[in-house]
Amino acid sequence: MTDAPQVTVIGGGMITHDQILPSLYQLQRLGRIGAIAVCASRRRTVATLAGAEILARAFPGQTFRAYPDSGDEPQPELFRQVIARMPARSIVVVAVPDHLHYDVIMIALRHDQHVCAVKPLVLHYEQAVEIEREAYARGLVVGVEYHKRFDDRSLMARRKYREGLFGEFRLGSACLLEKWYYRHSNFQNWMTADKSDAFAYIGCHYVDLVHFITGLLPTAVSVYGIRDRFPNGQEGYLWTDARVVWSNGACLNVQNALGFPDDAPGTNTQGLTLYCKGEDKGALLSHSDQYRGLKHSYVSGSTIYAEPSPDYFQYVDLGGPGLTPVGYGYRSIEHIVANCLRAEGDLAARQKLLREIDAAGIMATPANSSYNERVIEAGRESIQNGGKMVEVGQVPDLPKNLRFQF
Ligand SMILES: NC(=O)c1ccc[n+]([C@@H]2O[C@H](COP(=O)([O-])OP(=O)(O)OC[C@H]3O[C@@H](n4cnc5c(N)ncnc54)[C@H](O)[C@@H]3O)[C@@H](O)[C@H]2O)c1
Repeated sequence: MTDAPQVTVIGGGMITHDQILPSLYQLQRLGRIGAIAVCASRRRTVATLAGAEILARAFPGQTFRAYPDSGDEPQPELFRQVIARMPARSIVVVAVPDHLHYDVIMIALRHDQHVCAVKPLVLHYEQAVEIEREAYARGLVVGVEYHKRFDDRSLMARRKYREGLFGEFRLGSACLLEKWYYRHSNFQNWMTADKSDAFAYIGCHYVDLVHFITGLLPTAVSVYGIRDRFPNGQEGYLWTDARVVWSNGACLNVQNALGFPDDAPGTNTQGLTLYCKGEDKGALLSHSDQYRGLKHSYVSGSTIYAEPSPDYFQYVDLGGPGLTPVGYGYRSIEHIVANCLRAEGDLAARQKLLREIDAAGIMATPANSSYNERVIEAGRESIQNGGKMVEVGQVPDLPKNLRFQF
């Protein structure tokens, strides 16, 4: 790619506002990408995004092209035309609800676009395989935005684990509970019991991270879910408790919910603890991913006491213009866009690059992270059957340096 590529984001909801669009604006400011467009299904979604105060403050003078550009009716098919009009090998960022990812990604690939997809890539393993084949055949990059991978603590843990400093993972626990108020958001329209659950939505982060750190693969999963009502009356599995068994027999317990008290500090509660064993010694890896050492108490605003994380995504004043986004949320988008920019040359050269990216295992791709789709599939079967243990289907042999031998 020689000129700075256009980027089109499909979906203008929470994650686009909080992380994706500001990261893209920063990359645009740096000259790494060109024009930005955002396509939602409703005009009012993109109008709200365009009027967001923090974005205007951080990126004065920067704007995006908004679709739909008129009308009040929902236009759920509009993204097809918007993508079709993009120059080949631009970048499509997929930020729609989980069950819509597949359709948008396939449309993007068929129009020769590189793809950055928010997690989870898709909800079915076969779809991940199809995406991988289509992308490889066309020499296109597909990056799955598991941003916790770009938290330095995850990268530190990965390196030290792979150097043998932690021995072998045996038992662990992880949790990620989002605030109660999420129930009042657009989530109530799509995170319903028939389509998703708290584990499929956010548990995948820690399943992915345990693989990222240890190289182990999940082999079986059991998910117990509690059904609860959203404010609009729809039912969802809003509380889940999962047990994930790994290829060396290790076991990880993962708890997820839309249920962390709104009055509690921080935007959620989350963390990971792994107990490991060496020759004749125990080892421990413990990450508090919510409390990162900061305590704030304010004199005004809706939050009186807060424990903000400086690590995921913050705006800092580096002297302007505007504000600069920092944190692993930004670094993750930057890394995926950088990989898209590397995809130059003829098809053979681009395919070689894709295999290198798969093998490096830092950016999640359909080829190196489809165990996540296997876990989601098995988890959905388990949760709908009272939490029975379901075997996780195998994934193709990973490149040698991604396999971990004990
Ligand atoms: N920690 C994370 O990695 C993280 C956090 C939040 C969300 N996400 C993921 O991001 C995705 C979106 O989540 P969100 O929180 O922004 O949800 P949201 O409900 O706030 O936003 C979804 C957006 O998709 C748009 N949309 C729906 N159908 C569309 C269509 N046919 N065409 C165009 N736009 C359409 C809606 O207009 C809305 O703007 C989900 O897959 C979610 O799992 C990831």
